[in-house]
Amino acid sequence: MRALTSGELRRLYLDFFAGKGHVIIPSASLIPENDPTVLFTTAGMHPLVPYLMGEKHPGGVRLADVQKCIRTDDIDEVGDDSHCTFFEMLGNWSLGDYFKDESIAYSWEFLTDERWLGIPKEKLFFTCFEGDADAPRDTVSASRWEDMGVDPAHIFYLPKKNNWWGPPGLTGPCGPDTEIFYDTGKPACSPDCSPACECGKHLEIWNNVFMEYNKVAEGVFVPLAKKNVDTGMGLDRTLATLQGAKSVYDTDMFAGSLRVIAELSGKSYATGGEVTRAFRIIADHIRCATFILGDPRGVTPGNVDQGYILRRLIRRSIRFAMGLGMPEGSLARIAETVITQYGEAYPELEKNRELILSELHKEEQRFARALQKGLREFEKLARDLQGTVVDGVSAFHLYDTYGFPIEFTIELAQERGLTVDTVVFAEAFARHQENSKAGAEQRFKGGLADSSEITTALHTATHLLQAALRAVLGDDSIAQKGSNITAERLRFDFSFPRKVVPEELRAVEAWVNAAIAADIPVALEAMSVADAKAQGAIGLFESKYDTQVNVYTIAGYSKEICGGPHAARTGDLGTFRIQKEEASSSGVRRIKAVLVRD
Ligand code: ALA
Repeated sequence: MRALTSGELRRLYLDFFAGKGHVIIPSASLIPENDPTVLFTTAGMHPLVPYLMGEKHPGGVRLADVQKCIRTDDIDEVGDDSHCTFFEMLGNWSLGDYFKDESIAYSWEFLTDERWLGIPKEKLFFTCFEGDADAPRDTVSASRWEDMGVDPAHIFYLPKKNNWWGPPGLTGPCGPDTEIFYDTGKPACSPDCSPACECGKHLEIWNNVFMEYNKVAEGVFVPLAKKNVDTGMGLDRTLATLQGAKSVYDTDMFAGSLRVIAELSGKSYATGGEVTRAFRIIADHIRCATFILGDPRGVTPGNVDQGYILRRLIRRSIRFAMGLGMPEGSLARIAETVITQYGEAYPELEKNRELILSELHKEEQRFARALQKGLREFEKLARDLQGTVVDGVSAFHLYDTYGFPIEFTIELAQERGLTVDTVVFAEAFARHQENSKAGAEQRFKGGLADSSEITTALHTATHLLQAALRAVLGDDSIAQKGSNITAERLRFDFSFPRKVVPEELRAVEAWVNAAIAADIPVALEAMSVADAKAQGAIGLFESKYDTQVNVYTIAGYSKEICGGPHAARTGDLGTFRIQKEEASSSGVRRIKAVLVRD
């Protein structure tokens, strides 16, 4: 296997497909043209949708490129080993020309041939579409892989959820896909471990989509006049694989940025935990911001749409940079390394160097000024305060007007022996999310608001809430009577004979937030009902659970029978705030709560 640099991998990929008669096209802008449904280009095929639908492409019927993409719906996961907001997709396309046979043969040759990537074939696994009412089982792809010499035990059939691809949005060209995975060498998670499970052993590196349908409405697939191939190979992941790197951040692509962050902060990337995470978040966000600012359809920080996402990325980096003790001006220094690293592949970055650096400086100054003003405002507030509680509306005003994060307000208050009414803050925050910027984000797929991830976090918070109520109210008979979770809040009904008073609610909140601060992994284990009971798990012991049940454990805090899904760690949840406690029905109380996340 060849340990290539990012520049070499891009070149090799394009050379390979040029040799197979493909015309190399430049990356399209990050800002989609004529597509109001998304803020950014989210996949290599995105700018090619009109051609996949039958329009004639000026480059012909065989195309290849390296497309810059942005997806911000997983922004909270940035900092782990594989998530980034910006990424590059290597892609080759057939517009009504070759189909499964050549597509699979090309992928195989590029991946395994010594002249190209030279990946040992035993390390590769494949998935194919298993078939359903909309389209048949893709035995053609599977037998083609076998023709290449793939061991049938390395080929898996999976449903639409895994092996079907269409562009973002409801309608458009789509079809079954065959996905290629690299075996990282991690131990198998179970005897059934396969590319279908998400244990991390099998890393998806390439997806070949066979676009034969136009989805015109939910469940309505019309065959396309011409069958197309759309492939996407993640540059970051493939690079990490080839370089034997622990994560995408440990490849040559981030080396420069991480070095500068270390220099400017005096800290080490290898520290681990929150420090390593902060390094990665800053490096990711500034790389992404540099590409947005440097895009030919240039965007500058603002309060709506792409400008707002850009502002979020920059301000979030500043907050993490402050946490690492980095001086003002750091962002532009990091951006310079990004421009150096990517300038050859993306000449627009060099061309827009001055603009990128000056916009980063300006936004840094704007944010610093806002924080200064906010600080003065806070001083005034603290001086005129009657009592010791900063009211939630003022705290929200600091956030809304001066970009003052609630954590800052709480810290400042603590330094003066004050507290902050975070319940009212959370209410104001939730209202604001509903009707302003977050609303704008949610209009767009690919925005920062990912409901499923938030919902998952709220679900985990519900477990902690139930455990907290039992602990704080000293009543082990408290049982769940209902639960309802939306992307905004959780609602939890439970048996309890009286009102839960404000002091108790504060204590419950503090209990949950302590569990969050402890950043405990949420562990899943399947066991018999008897074992679950013996271990003190709470939950519904109904007959439907007569065989094995899933038990989610947050060690030291909660153990509950549940179907999931859950956040990976409590530290991913944000800050837990109870908004309301009321009667639901006789003997049943209802709590509404939110997670305040930055
Ligand atoms: N368009 C396909 C993807 O993004 C290749 O996975």
